[in-house]
Amino acid sequence: MQTTTTRRRPVQVPTARTADRYALYMAAVQEPEAEVRFIDRVYRGLNGRRAVSLREDFCGTFGICCAWATSGGAGLERTALGVDLDPEPIAWGVAHHLGALDEPARARVGVLQADVLSERVRRAGPAGGFDAIAAFNFSYWVLMERALLLRYLRACRGSLARGGALFLDAFGGPDAHRELTESRRCKGFTYVWNQERYNAIDGVMRCSIGFRFRDGTELPRAFRYTWRLWTLPEIADMLREAGFGSVDVYWEGDDGKGGGDGVFRKARFGDAGNAFICYIVAHDGPADRPAD
Ligand SMILES: C[S@@+](CC[C@H](N)C(=O)[O-])C[C@H]1O[C@@H](n2cnc3c(N)ncnc32)[C@H](O)[C@@H]1O
Repeated sequence: MQTTTTRRRPVQVPTARTADRYALYMAAVQEPEAEVRFIDRVYRGLNGRRAVSLREDFCGTFGICCAWATSGGAGLERTALGVDLDPEPIAWGVAHHLGALDEPARARVGVLQADVLSERVRRAGPAGGFDAIAAFNFSYWVLMERALLLRYLRACRGSLARGGALFLDAFGGPDAHRELTESRRCKGFTYVWNQERYNAIDGVMRCSIGFRFRDGTELPRAFRYTWRLWTLPEIADMLREAGFGSVDVYWEGDDGKGGGDGVFRKARFGDAGNAFICYIVAHDGPADRPAD
């Protein structure tokens, strides 16, 4: 019999008052398993074997590292190292991503709180170098001067094993240069992407991510970014200047409704439309190439 004194479970109302911004970010923009599948597919296509070691630069909560460590299947014990300057997302990742792994997988994931340009990062990792280095969600765009980004790309090349590849993403198209706000409904909240300011003279953009809830509360500017909006030709030129023998762009297929279908294929022509997101893969060819 139900009475007024029956104890009910409290209903979780998604609200800014209790929201965890990293959990919201994870739900709205991250798909570590998809990124891992992409790296896996491309590396295997380049080398005819599967990659073992990954470094995730600008790793935040290092979700990709943790997905990587468990993605090898039987007989492939993948290792990962995350690098980020900020202890806060690292601590979140330790509690949520790392904590969810079993002990053997956990032992194969390392995290370094450091600047990606630092000597500590250059010296970290397997003796022969990493099979893959990934810098996703446009984070390397914090390197806003050409000389600095070039230094980073050169350092990445120096940290790769033979046959290794650097995986980057990029966005662009006419909309990327505009000040705009886009929102998307997610489960229990609305994700808001704000391009707050774009300076056409130096190419620097200021963006933020916010979250809105059904109870009317919001977390505006939960994450803020100041980036140089690098173009694909600029990035490709710098990768070649950094010494990479090949730079491949993977362009997203069309869903037939004006959007992307989530499938990225190597392309030589890209129709930007109003906006695009793509992957860039820089490498020196397969591991069995003749020595330099
Ligand atoms: C946009 S977040 C991306 C996080 C993660 N890669 C993702 O996909 O969600 C950018 C991250 O880069 C980190 N960061 C910025 N500059 C850095 C640097 N020089 N070295 C290492 N990490 C840096 C920030 O602390 C932040 O966690």
